[in-house]
Amino acid sequence: MMAPSILSADFARLADEAAAVAGADWLHVDVMDAHFVPNLTIGLPVVKSLRKATDIPLDCHLMIDDPDRWATGYAEAGAHNVTVHVEAAHDPVALAKDLRAAGAKAGLSLKPGTPLEPYVDVLKHYDTLLVMSVEPGFGGQEFMDEVLDKVRTARRLVDTGHLRLVVEIDGGINEDTIARAAEAGVDCFVAGSAVYDAADPGAALERLRQQAAR
Ligand code: DX5
Ligand code: ZN
Repeated sequence: MMAPSILSADFARLADEAAAVAGADWLHVDVMDAHFVPNLTIGLPVVKSLRKATDIPLDCHLMIDDPDRWATGYAEAGAHNVTVHVEAAHDPVALAKDLRAAGAKAGLSLKPGTPLEPYVDVLKHYDTLLVMSVEPGFGGQEFMDEVLDKVRTARRLVDTGHLRLVVEIDGGINEDTIARAAEAGVDCFVAGSAVYDAADPGAALERLRQQAAR
């Protein structure tokens, strides 16, 4: 699965930028609050408008403090998947239940330095695991290969039936790195700059998809 990130798109032309990647499985929407991460992007009003502007399921990645308070709003706004950070959530199990009750899939994200093992039981309540392969906050950073061990562990837990999750990776995915991530067991690839910095984002997306399938 491919999830282009609109963080690298032209924010004044979001409907067109979504249309440019019409073959995407999910459209990845990075919500940042300038507190959990040192950057400020978009929030609920934009997600509500985007929901009307595209049929691509929205994959909202909330890099915000206190997601327990804000995340269900994104589910109610029609996001397909709402991902919160385990480092920010106060009660991630209750939050997953709230998100599902509001009609969304629930995602849990781990920063590069956050281990997986302490959260295996929590992840039983989630539909998606988002492994960050850069420090969250900005597009265009370099892929951190060291997170692939975490992907392999997650893959094993899914393949042995201990968890039922989409394993998603986010950060530094491009034509040089996507094959390594695929080999480690990633199901869903987020790519921002590798898609939207290309002259033809739709073609770049399909090239990445092919590299992942090799
Ligand atoms: C970074 C965001 C990513 C970002 C990835 O904190 O979570 O989704 O858009 O951008 P690239 O693909 O350029 O690393
Ligand atoms: Zn993201």
